[in-house]
Amino acid sequence: MRHFLDLSSAGPDGLAAILADAIDRKAAREGQPKGAPDADAPLAGHVLAMVFEKNSTRTRVSFDMAMRQLGGSALVLDAATSQLGRGETVADTARVLSGYCDAIMVRTDDHAKLVEMAEYASVPVINGLTDLSHPCQIVADLQTILEAGMALPGLKVAWLGDGNNVLASIVEAGGLMHFDVVAACPQGYQPPDDVLARGGGRARCVADPREAAEGADVIVADTWISMGQEHAEQKLKAMLPYQVDGALMAAAKPGARFLHCLPAHRGEEVSADVIDGPQSLIWAEAENRLHAQKAILRWCFGQIATG
Ligand code: CP
Ligand code: NVA
Repeated sequence: MRHFLDLSSAGPDGLAAILADAIDRKAAREGQPKGAPDADAPLAGHVLAMVFEKNSTRTRVSFDMAMRQLGGSALVLDAATSQLGRGETVADTARVLSGYCDAIMVRTDDHAKLVEMAEYASVPVINGLTDLSHPCQIVADLQTILEAGMALPGLKVAWLGDGNNVLASIVEAGGLMHFDVVAACPQGYQPPDDVLARGGGRARCVADPREAAEGADVIVADTWISMGQEHAEQKLKAMLPYQVDGALMAAAKPGARFLHCLPAHRGEEVSADVIDGPQSLIWAEAENRLHAQKAILRWCFGQIATG
């Protein structure tokens, strides 16, 4: 049994195998109705419990559809209507859900709750986003980069804006897959040193957005205000020079690509002409959440060999 708490749970070989599986299975079912199960239905009879303590569109629907395509099914618990919202402990919830379901996906605030879920569950636990990281998103991002014809080793990935959970998983991916991450973040919103350290010496943070963008193969942005954060005018003001616009894209390599995990705020972290323009891969990236999720689930159930 394998938990997918961060990209390091899979390691470099596991992550490479997950990406290959996601790409292969996506190609193999092209043109089929979305709800039709894959021919081999590798998770037939399996049920995924999805615990949401924060909002979601992509993660919720892509995991649900991933389970359907793998031959299984999924159910949702949210904080508002489950006993989690009335103080039942994570440990008790983990043990109870393990008796009904074959895997648990958790989207929550405090990463420690995810770790506690994994500690007490007797089924695989998957990180569907915490305040610390968003590894499932970055599997989809890496898949999108590979499908755009780029090799991961040696890439320069530029991050613009808040030093947040999504950046933390990109940094971790860089360390595992040997690409450089240069994050441009305003004073007070840089990633902590221990997050940068996950990049194995390949990640750094700068103040100048142009320095990050120059020569980049991929430019990534995310919301300036993550779920659970206060909508502060002061933060928005500090972030303004870090907006990804046409001028910043022009500083990157010719043919550089733009990624955003969505939801997006046009006119804040990215201009409309960039996110809706020819360099943007956001729709493929969003769709790849489904294909990546399927591979992550199969890895959790030991259906994908690691190394
Ligand atoms: N990118 C992402 O995780 O989207 P949702 O919040 O809609 O799940
Ligand atoms: N950083 C964002 C990502 C949303 C998918 C958040 O945590 O809200």
